[in-house]
Amino acid sequence: MRLMFIGDVVSKRGCEFLANHILDLKKEYEIDILAVNGENSAPGNGITKSSLEMLTNCGADVITTGNHSFKRRESVHLYDECEYLLRPINYPDGVVGKGMYILDLGRTQVAFINAMGVIYLEPIDNPFTAIDNALSKISTPNIFIDFHAEATSEKKCIGHYFTGRVTGVFGTHTHVQTADEMILGDHTAYITDVGMTGPERSVLGVDSDIATVKMRLHFPVMFEESKEPCFINGVVVDFDEQTGKARDIKRIIKR
Ligand SMILES: [Fe+2]
Ligand SMILES: [Fe+2]
Repeated sequence: MRLMFIGDVVSKRGCEFLANHILDLKKEYEIDILAVNGENSAPGNGITKSSLEMLTNCGADVITTGNHSFKRRESVHLYDECEYLLRPINYPDGVVGKGMYILDLGRTQVAFINAMGVIYLEPIDNPFTAIDNALSKISTPNIFIDFHAEATSEKKCIGHYFTGRVTGVFGTHTHVQTADEMILGDHTAYITDVGMTGPERSVLGVDSDIATVKMRLHFPVMFEESKEPCFINGVVVDFDEQTGKARDIKRIIKR
């Protein structure tokens, strides 16, 4: 069975570029399941009803988020209404939404967990503990984690700690694809960061001139989406649905 995971889709242009190419990509890589990180899919970050619809229309079976989950206050209710829209599982009890989803394909089930790192991000609950708790409730061997984190060290430790217990650990959040895709312990597909989907020559999707003024002068600016050509970053994992073992992980860059 094959799963494609698409890195943080940025704004309307990222959603549209994905929509224009996803059918061809799914066909080319013979994809059965599509997972997408949508935390930046709305203009100005976060996710809205309309960006959720765009990603759903792309065929996303599950949509993960991260530190921008709740950026759009008017859309927070979506996390309770849409069963396949996740926010990090290690938010404290009482926060709207959920961090786990089981996709039922009939012949098999595939579980998704979204978690967030705590290094250089909000100090929410311990992600190791939260994922451990989630795993104790899952019976399918097919389990994928979107670990949304800043520090490469924290992502590597999550990959190491859950090796052999999950089918894949995909890092997100930095918007820069890393070249370290590997199979850990002959079981777990891993990559430190999947990258992003949106304008390639940009600062994480933002217009480079504007982002540089902010970085150079520490002066408040209004971020604008870059108008440069878009690309898609993702990974494809081939796995054995009987054992949950990943056979192969491939990085995808589609321009
Ligand atoms: Fe992001
Ligand atoms: Fe993020």
